[in-house]
Amino acid sequence: MMKVTLPKLKIKKGTEKISMVTCYDASFARLVEKAGIDSILVGDSLGMVICGEENTLKVSTEEVAYHVKAVRKGAANPFLIADMPFGSYQDSVETGVKNAVALIKAGAEAVKIEGGSEVCPLISKLVSFGIPVVAHVGLTPQYVHKFGGFAKRGKSEEERRFIMDSALEVEKAGADMIVLEGIPETLASEITKKVKIPTIGIGAGTGTDGQVLVIYDLLGMNADFNPAFLKKYADLDSVVTEALKEYKKDVAEN
Ligand code: KIV
Repeated sequence: MMKVTLPKLKIKKGTEKISMVTCYDASFARLVEKAGIDSILVGDSLGMVICGEENTLKVSTEEVAYHVKAVRKGAANPFLIADMPFGSYQDSVETGVKNAVALIKAGAEAVKIEGGSEVCPLISKLVSFGIPVVAHVGLTPQYVHKFGGFAKRGKSEEERRFIMDSALEVEKAGADMIVLEGIPETLASEITKKVKIPTIGIGAGTGTDGQVLVIYDLLGMNADFNPAFLKKYADLDSVVTEALKEYKKDVAEN
């Protein structure tokens, strides 16, 4: 696999779809690279799928950096994006820059930031220093307490307009790509047509320039997690459980 760079990803818009998965460790990263996936996101979803928390809010910059280092060891070629976790940029642009720099030093090639106009000053500052930014609008999990959960966004006309405006604002601020999460397919397609940068969808239909999924979700690690948008490409829940049962049996019998 050849090294995937930001210019190579951006040039795909309108011609070739971008594949992205989350990943948190070297072992899975090696397989992600072997499969030829374009990009890896070390998402703050690690708080949920790695640490078992109910939301992403407790994740720290140091924890994301730790997982970025592990992923980079396992896969040198996919374009590596690190999530800026809750609390790592809210207090000031300076704090945001400091934490983004820490993630880049850990091995990330871009940072992802949730939000719209409120994060534009930080986006502009980071891109001015050569730190690529992936914006994230729609269902933004760090706003879980405001939204009251992880339900789809963009159901009302007002919300649709807000999400569209947010996408246009983060593009204007200099974002290099946008994740569109949990919004209607029609809105995601409309945003994708309006912006010049690639859009990466999750639970936003097929009209985006690429797709991202949490690796454990797409591999079917948890039989009880079945959101409507999720296509499972494996059933690791039963594969792993059955393998462990067999191992237990062998240990008992030998
Ligand atoms: O943290 C994460 O994994 C994400 C993706 C779901 C887009 O933000």
